[in-house]
This record gives sequence, structure tokens and C-alpha cells, in this order.
Amino acid sequence: MCGIVGYLGTEQAYPILIKGLKRLEYRGYDSSGVALLNEGEIEISKCRGKVSDLEDHLAGKVPEGVVGIGHTRWATHGPPNDINAHPHASGDGTLALIHNGIIENYATIKEELINRGHVFKSDTDTEVLTHLIEDIRTKTGVDLFEAIRLALSEVHGAYAIVVIDKKNPDMMIAAKKSSPLVIGIGGNGEFYVGSDATPIVEYTKNVVYLEDEEVALMDRKSGLKIVTIQNKEKVPYIQELEIKLETLEKGGYDYFMLKEIYEQPRSIIDCFRGRMNLQKGEIRMSGIDDNEEKWINAKRVIIVACGTSWHAGLVAEYLFEDIARLSVEVEYASEFRYRNPIINKDDIVVAISQSGETADTLAAIEMAKKQGAHIFGVCNVVGSTISRTTDSGAYTHAGPEIGVASTKAFTAQVTVLTLMALTVAQKRGTITDARLHRLIAELNSIPDKVTEVLKTNDQVEYISDIYKNATNALYLGRGSSFPVALEGALKLKEISYIHAEGYPAAEMKHGPIALIDEEMPVFVIATHGQSYEKVVSNIQEVKARKGKIIAIVTAGDTAVKGMADHVIEIPKTDETLVPLVSVIPFQLLSYHIAVMRGCNVDQPRNLAKSVTVE
Ligand code: G6P
Repeated sequence: MCGIVGYLGTEQAYPILIKGLKRLEYRGYDSSGVALLNEGEIEISKCRGKVSDLEDHLAGKVPEGVVGIGHTRWATHGPPNDINAHPHASGDGTLALIHNGIIENYATIKEELINRGHVFKSDTDTEVLTHLIEDIRTKTGVDLFEAIRLALSEVHGAYAIVVIDKKNPDMMIAAKKSSPLVIGIGGNGEFYVGSDATPIVEYTKNVVYLEDEEVALMDRKSGLKIVTIQNKEKVPYIQELEIKLETLEKGGYDYFMLKEIYEQPRSIIDCFRGRMNLQKGEIRMSGIDDNEEKWINAKRVIIVACGTSWHAGLVAEYLFEDIARLSVEVEYASEFRYRNPIINKDDIVVAISQSGETADTLAAIEMAKKQGAHIFGVCNVVGSTISRTTDSGAYTHAGPEIGVASTKAFTAQVTVLTLMALTVAQKRGTITDARLHRLIAELNSIPDKVTEVLKTNDQVEYISDIYKNATNALYLGRGSSFPVALEGALKLKEISYIHAEGYPAAEMKHGPIALIDEEMPVFVIATHGQSYEKVVSNIQEVKARKGKIIAIVTAGDTAVKGMADHVIEIPKTDETLVPLVSVIPFQLLSYHIAVMRGCNVDQPRNLAKSVTVE
């Protein structure tokens, strides 16, 4: 979703801003823009489309200045066009502002400002905020920092903003509420701002994550000052960034998504580190160990998440109920937060989020917290808002995921959730030593099995070529393969724009079977396990209606091979852990189909990597 970059220093700001915006492209956006302050003037350049379109637009007339802000916009108020793109200027042209989030009461404020003579050019809530700041500054005579603080105390909603001012060329001001913002502190009085650390990491490792309702003044002369909206001064807490620049590059792959698919054997091993002891047959997870009583006495686990993370939650439902004998509910965070749900003090709420910034998941956590539940976060991005809001948690350690379609984050989430279920099962005494040892050994073998499945890439590419022009696709699975079917369908629709649905295989006959004809590819997970024979029957039902079957089967399978149009073999895996392996061919399939259809694999249309609005 929208991206923010800002620079105040001694170097030319434009190249830094453009590079930063490109690093933020993965979040998904539809327009971009920059504003540079030079010799007492602010020059704003913005346009619909990609950052490269902005560069083309500015070719030969690159704006100069050592202070500047840049933005990638994902439209919320008004269509994606040149005028609605950020930065926005105040009416008197003194200020330029960029904004992530939504100002909910913008319409009322806009009306008041119009009554006082303000004229607006765009449809955005952001322009309203810019005018409000200007209005307060002119009306009251306070300085810009104070005007911003006062303006923000009038607005409702979510914001991360950065403002530059032609009257104050030595400073830049940033503020945030419910939308992340990071300040990088460079040498020689330089400051960087980012909606995440990716545009900053190249320049400095010293960062300050702004907290909600904080306003930060970055001043070339006096340094960094942070004040809350309530006007309390805060001491900036400087942290060291852990991400490395190399992890943000494509490393020889055509797309980040492909790189991330191939990183999975490594990222799964990274999830084990420090947690799984193969020799001792033990798992330790500090977030659970530190809250042992809560987990032992818990009556229920409520999982809240969105998108792919919700699918990981569905896999966890099988794991926790089966291994730890703990009742689990898996909720869309967006539904849960508005449903007046029953949350008890002995419930544990597990929030799963790759980005750690998803607005609905965050709101669900806050609601559950108020009702006294213990909140456990499963996040990938270290230092993200969710990871800081939860009572305890476990990082997935998958490294930065740039492709909008989540791949390695999903397998990392399922790995961590498996480790959690095993840890809790040990504590609750619901697993025998024999099964625990077997599952630990099996989990340890997963990275090699994933490596093995990645070797099916050419075969998957061949199958992709056959079905690349399909208009619909059905994905079927039973048990914990059902969420994998959902995830397979999501991957296909997200990046190749083919309509796809995931279904529990037996439910097919309650509706989707009506769609099956010779044009319909049906992707089925038919690996060995307790529902194997049932799935074989479902395959026969599809074949009887001339549907095309592409089945993921256990190596050596013969029965499905005899019926299916294509089979993709995966190594024999304990049923409990099959999702970690069976999802891989679906990831590859959607990748190849998207490439063949000429789609933008890493930045699919209309989608955002990090959904920071509800
Ligand atoms: C967006 C992304 C998905 C992701 C979902 C939840 O829709 O495109 O890939 O699964 O948000 O995001 P989270 O960061 O909370 O896991």
C-alpha cells in the first residue's frame, strides 16, 4: 500500500527519493510523486503509473534540492490520477505533504475549510489535511510543528505524514497514528524517513520507529525532537536495523516472487533456529515458555488474520486441535473486529501477519486486548506494529518478502505454527514422546523435501502452458489440504487474474460441480493419508464430467496417476506436515501462468503488500 520516503541532508535528494520509492514498489501502488525544496521554492512532480513513469516524466529536468519527500499512492479517495497523486500542496503553496492512511473526518473539515475560502484541487483526504495545517498556522501564528500537532489533534483515522515547508528549509516534520513510520538518522545531520525500513537501510542502520500520535521534528541544526499530540516531549529511542541490503535485491531471479519461492528451504530452516533441538527431541519457544500457565490453562485459541496469513491460520487449526487438543477458531480479522465476539480471559488470541501492519489485524488485536485475552503475534517483519503491540510472539524469520503474492511467508508461518502446536502439546501433555520425536524428525526433513519439490519446476511450467488460458480453475483438498487449496486458488487469482476457487473436496458436489466441463482445470491435493480414498472418489466425480485433473500426489502413487491428466509428485510426508510441501507446486504454477500471461508478477494490479487501511 502507499509508501513514504523522505530525505533531509547534504546530498541531492531526488536520486535518494527515487531509489527509495522503487524499494517501496513492492507494497503496491498506482501513482507516485516527489516534492523537493530548493532555493526557497517547492517543486512538486507527480503522475499516475509506476515510479519509472515519474522518472520518464522528469527526464532531462530532474528537480534539485537537498530536502525532499516522495510517495507511492494506492488510491482510496478519488481515482488514481496525476492530481490525486501525492505530494499535495497547501493553498498558499508553502507546504508539501505526503500521507499514508485515511483521515476519516476529512469531509467535515473540508466543508469548514471551503467555507473559509479554501479551494481544493484533488479528491483526497490528504489535501484537506495539508490545508488544515496551513489554516491553523495562518490563523493562529504558531510555528509549523505546533500547527501540525494541533491539526492532527482534530483528525480521526490513520496517518503517517511527512511535511516540508518552504519557510523552513532546514527541517522536515513527520507524524504517525496507526500507520507505520521509521526515521533513519544518518551522519552529518542527515535524516531519512520511510513507511518501512527498506528505503533507509542502504544509508543508515540507526532508526527510530515513531509511536502512535507522535510528531517528530527533524532539524539540520537542532537534531531530532519528538512530541506527542498531547504535547509531551519524548526521548527518541534509537534502534539498530537488522535487515541487510542484499536481502532486498532480486539475486539473479527474474522476479522477487520466484526468488522467494526458491528461498523456502532456507527460510524454513531459519524458523527452526534456536527453537528445535533434534538430538534432544525438544522444542522451545520463548513466547510460549514465558507464558506457560496461560497456554496450559487456555480453553480456546482464536486466530485472527487476513489473506494468506488467514490460510496459515486455517492450517494451524488442524495442528492445534490434533496435536495440542486445544479448540481453535480462525477468524477474518476484518469480520472479527466488528462482530462483538465473545472473548474470555482464558482465550489466547494469535494474530498472524507477514507485514505486522495490517490494519484489520491490528484493530482485532486491540479489541481482544481490551477484553483481557493474552495476545500472541506471529509476524515476519521485525519491529512491526503488530509485533510491538502483542503480549508475546514468535517471529517467522523468513526475511523481507517483496513479491505481493505471499509465498515464503506462508510456509514460515505454518512452520512456526507447527512449532507452537508441538510446544503447547508438550506442555499440555497431549502428545506422546514417540509422536513428538517423529514429528520433529519429519519437520526437520521438510526443507529437503521442499528442495525436492522445487525440482518439479519444469514440469509445472509445462502444465502451466497447457492451462494458461483457462478462465476458471477449481482447487480441492481435504483436511489441512483444504487451506492449501484456498491458498493455491488465491495465488492464481492474485497474480494471473484467472478466477479460481478453493473448496473442501467433498463440498464440490454442493455447488462447484455444476461448473465442471472439459474447459475446467481442477487442481487436487491427493496425497496419501486418511482421506486419500475419499479424494480419489472426488477425482472420479470430476472425470465423469470431463473436467481436467491436475493432482498433487505422494511419490510412487499409482491410483491417481491412472485417472489424472497430470500428476505432480511430492515426497512422502507425514500427513500433519503435508501443507508445507504441497503448496510449493501451486506457487510455481501461479508464477508461471502469470509470466506467460504477461502479468506483473511482483506487483499485481489493485493489490498491496501491506494493507494499512481497513
Ligand atoms: C495483503 C497481501 C497478502 C497478505 C495479506 C495479509 O492482501 O497482498 O499477501 O496475505 O495482505 O497481510 P499480512 O501482512 O497481515 O500477512
